[in-house]
Amino acid sequence: MSAGSRLKDRTAIVTGASSGIGRSIAERLGAAGAHVFLSGRTRDAMEASKARIEAAGGRATVGTDDVRDPAQVRALVDRAVRDTGRLDVMVNNAGVSFPQPIVDGDPEQWRTMLETNVLGLLVGCQAAVRAMRACKAEGHLVNVSSIAALRPDSGVYGSTKHAVNCISATLRRELEEDTIRVVNVMPGAIATNFARNFDPEVVGGMVAATGVQVELKPGERMPDEVFDKLQPMMRQLLGSPDDVADAVLYAVTLPIHVNVADIVVRPPKQLNL
Ligand SMILES: NC(=O)c1ccc[n+]([C@@H]2O[C@H](COP(=O)([O-])OP(=O)(O)OC[C@H]3O[C@@H](n4cnc5c(N)ncnc54)[C@H](OP(=O)(O)O)[C@@H]3O)[C@@H](O)[C@H]2O)c1
Repeated sequence: MSAGSRLKDRTAIVTGASSGIGRSIAERLGAAGAHVFLSGRTRDAMEASKARIEAAGGRATVGTDDVRDPAQVRALVDRAVRDTGRLDVMVNNAGVSFPQPIVDGDPEQWRTMLETNVLGLLVGCQAAVRAMRACKAEGHLVNVSSIAALRPDSGVYGSTKHAVNCISATLRRELEEDTIRVVNVMPGAIATNFARNFDPEVVGGMVAATGVQVELKPGERMPDEVFDKLQPMMRQLLGSPDDVADAVLYAVTLPIHVNVADIVVRPPKQLNL
């Protein structure tokens, strides 16, 4: 079967599809034949992905949603089911990190991490299971965790990813009798906008090395050009979003009696996240 037809007639949702890992997964699933529903907050970036998917003969729909709001996550799943009659792959990828020490941390940033990384993912899993059961899908829940979940002292961000690992393992057990498999993905350091809330001096140093002139604003996205130059320069320390997307595509295209349960995708040298 060709790469372009493995997910023919399947419907996939990807949250956080406007950047980095989610964007790459969305484009991979689209190239494999799925009708992809891209969800995120930055519409222009997702429209560009939709154009690329459609130029290659695929199907894509763009929606702006905030995963911190359970109603918006449920509405996203409802849209996909209403438009295509089914749901086969749900990628809960939207996530954010504020790497502060706990003793100096801001409870509003903790709330943002907990609501985005944990609550949004939980509601996404629940809504997706109901939709997959209703259409009798051979489905996959893909939860994007982190290698931070493998360290006991990875801060508030890490604790959200420990929660993701626990949610994935629990759902895997709850869904043993269903035709729904749970794939838990733990990336290492990947060149994306993930560092948008990191120390501007550290990020600025890396960006300067690329030669790209960009004004860094904490919390804001950087141009793709930065990552296109940075990742090949630092490939020992920074993976590419496509590396993660390739692993996800592999896991969701296996027969339903095979569960690639936990995947770590990382560059050769490991940074602590
Ligand atoms: N990059 C890494 O080193 C790394 C390592 C391990 C795990 N991860 C995990 O990988 C996942 C993807 O991160 P990334 O590296 O691709 O970072 P990224 O480039 O910053 O992408 C994050 C995505 O999540 C979206 N998002 C954030 N908050 C949202 C919200 N409240 N509602 C809807 N969408 C929201 C962003 O949308 P906008 O940009 O439109 O705001 C963006 O599309 C996250 O779960 C992250 O924890 C990343």
